[in-house]
Amino acid sequence: MASVADRPGTSPEMEAARRESHYALRRRTLDRMRSRSTDLDAAPMRIDPAVYTSADYAERERRAIFHGMPIVAGLTRDIPEPGDMMLFDVLGPSILLVRSKAGTVNAFLNMCPHRGAKVVTDCSRRTRMTCRFHAWTFDLEGKLIGQPGKEGFEGVDKAELGLLPVPVAERYGLIFVRLTPRGEPIDVDAHLGDFAGEIAHLELGKADPIRRSEIPCEANWKYALDTYGESYHFASLHPETIGQLAYSNIMIYDNYGLHARLAFPRAEFMDYQERDEAEWPHTDYGGLYMLFPNMIINVNSIPGVGQFYGISRVFPGETVDRSRTLLSTYQPAHSGAEVDVAKWAEMHDFIQRVVTEEDYSVSRDGQDNLRWAPEGFATVLGRNEIALQHWHRNLNAIMQGRN
Ligand code: FES
Ligand SMILES: [Fe+2]
Repeated sequence: MASVADRPGTSPEMEAARRESHYALRRRTLDRMRSRSTDLDAAPMRIDPAVYTSADYAERERRAIFHGMPIVAGLTRDIPEPGDMMLFDVLGPSILLVRSKAGTVNAFLNMCPHRGAKVVTDCSRRTRMTCRFHAWTFDLEGKLIGQPGKEGFEGVDKAELGLLPVPVAERYGLIFVRLTPRGEPIDVDAHLGDFAGEIAHLELGKADPIRRSEIPCEANWKYALDTYGESYHFASLHPETIGQLAYSNIMIYDNYGLHARLAFPRAEFMDYQERDEAEWPHTDYGGLYMLFPNMIINVNSIPGVGQFYGISRVFPGETVDRSRTLLSTYQPAHSGAEVDVAKWAEMHDFIQRVVTEEDYSVSRDGQDNLRWAPEGFATVLGRNEIALQHWHRNLNAIMQGRN
């Protein structure tokens, strides 16, 4: 029986690719630190506040982006064993993800074909799923295998009474779904393009979940997500927290079509400035991997402990001015077996506190103001806010059907 439960060791090729990529990033970051400069876009960019405040825009966005595009529902080791399951319902419809006997992932609308009840409400491992309403039972492939009182349903084709599949694809340790039942299959490599290589070397499929939480935000999902993509605000908004760990307004930026990677200089890099690169200590700092439309993988290190992956996924809320962030922290396999996982949980809690108390409180204020923005007002993204410009341009292109 196939299983991904036994975490394999890291691959030497991936380790080499990861180091090469992360060390190149650190080299460029140090160059920028020395020259006190940052990667820049060509010109400032104006943003119409309606993209944050219009209910009509939000509805179109939900259809085009969150229901139309591949969205990451989880990571491989969230459901490592056959019969493991999870619910992904932050976007509205309840989606059930199940690891099959063969070790692949199936995704279904969590809606009973009998009268629409939720088939799965607790996610314990099992070999079949029984609806609690009238006990119709489905196998892990979604096929109806048990139907009490089935004589009552004579004439209805049993083949039509399976769970409704939703497109799903698992690759590079990420599980993508498309929230359109019977919709177009997902081609992960086409979606990631050139970014696939950078994602692959993270070996996300071998990373273990440590802690997860949900952070509500009283702002549009884009206003919340905008706070992740620049370092310009570190010293002013985070003087006691992130501002102590990383430099403000210095950023390294790599464009990968829809996606991007960015890096900020960390305070401990300062010590390397006068030293030859051969003498730099090993760090696993990889920057932020921005996966369109709504996911940030923070590839960072806990100094003296090891690497962590802090994953933030920002989703639209019930109304245009609300959002929900799923924050999940994973321990990479290459962080070593002899580490104290409490350190990863502490890092998770630290990030949650900073995001809640600092970033999302400013998002809430800004959102509130934009509601009352006078006619003709537009916010402006500077050349130094290059990742945000790129991301908003991609979003605009998709909303205008240009992508
Ligand atoms: S609604 Fe599920 S068995 Fe009736
Ligand atoms: Fe911030």
